[in-house]
Amino acid sequence: MQSKIQHLKSEMLAALHAAKTEEAIRETEIKYLGRSGLFNEIMKSLKDLPDEEKKTVGKAANVTKKEMEEAVSRRFISLESERLGQIAETEWLDVTVPGRKPVVGHRHLISKFIDDLEIIFGKMGFTVAEGPDVESEHYNFNQLNIPPDHPARDMQDTFWVANLPNTVLRTQTSPVQIRYMEAHKPPVRIICMGKTFRKDSDATHSPMFHQLEGLMVDEAISMANLKAIITHTLQQIFEDPSIKTRFRVSFFPFVEPGMEVDCTCPICHGEGKLPDNVPCRLCKQCGWLEIGGAGMVHPKVLKNAGYDSKKYTGFAFGFGLDRMVMIKHRINHLRLFFENDLRFIRQF
Ligand code: DAH
Repeated sequence: MQSKIQHLKSEMLAALHAAKTEEAIRETEIKYLGRSGLFNEIMKSLKDLPDEEKKTVGKAANVTKKEMEEAVSRRFISLESERLGQIAETEWLDVTVPGRKPVVGHRHLISKFIDDLEIIFGKMGFTVAEGPDVESEHYNFNQLNIPPDHPARDMQDTFWVANLPNTVLRTQTSPVQIRYMEAHKPPVRIICMGKTFRKDSDATHSPMFHQLEGLMVDEAISMANLKAIITHTLQQIFEDPSIKTRFRVSFFPFVEPGMEVDCTCPICHGEGKLPDNVPCRLCKQCGWLEIGGAGMVHPKVLKNAGYDSKKYTGFAFGFGLDRMVMIKHRINHLRLFFENDLRFIRQF
């Protein structure tokens, strides 16, 4: 019987050696050492032996069984280390190779400029207001004192929204003035920066462009405040304290008086020419650049928004935001902003 067990053991060792998967090892274990396995089969005949022999044979059998169990565990371990060895061969990694740098993008020039404006105006106590790009005729025109038959509507070639009556893509950021005043009591100090839309397209016009709108309303606001705030703002934007401003009478229905705002050219400093008599191309030698419109808020507009126009006065302005970025960075084509050419975008 002992030799039978020894034989069984060597048979199992050979089977274990041939087992190349965890499953195969487990099957071998069950076949030999399982409850109704071959080992127990042999052990059944133990009871037929004389008592004396039963003891010694039983003991020896137990030792062998233990050895067989250990052989199974060892085989599991060696299979695992074979597997790890293979991984180490095929999946090695050189940790000293320099890493790959991910391409990191950055904010668009216009977005960065909007952030700068927020800081410049924030220091003067202005907060940022917003309004919808798709706007009602009511806010975009009527409440701003531009009735339906008013010629001022022709100045702003409007995109009307099909299938939505009296709805436009806002032609200006001025409707945000009304929306804000309707929702807030004076005093008001806000700017609004955002997209505006007009049917216009050439080197200096794009159907979508950006405006910077400003509104300040309180008791006793005068032209002096308008001039001071606008002049300081332009000096901050162009990072040049020598910038001067000029206000020319003009007409916008929502202000009275209305004016056009110019500032001295930041390149030639109002001279129209550069050193050595080189003509300044940015301002076309006139020394001034047109920035936008402004004026004292029309009493009708204050009333439309529910303000007491006897008690409160204010000023407003609307500047071409893209244009200011073009001047600041000497960019000569408006559409470069919106064409998404990375060769351009990466420069800023
Ligand atoms: N909304 C005007 C435009 O787009 C610009 C403008 C002029 C805005 C005068 C103002 C203002 O707030 O007071 O042409």
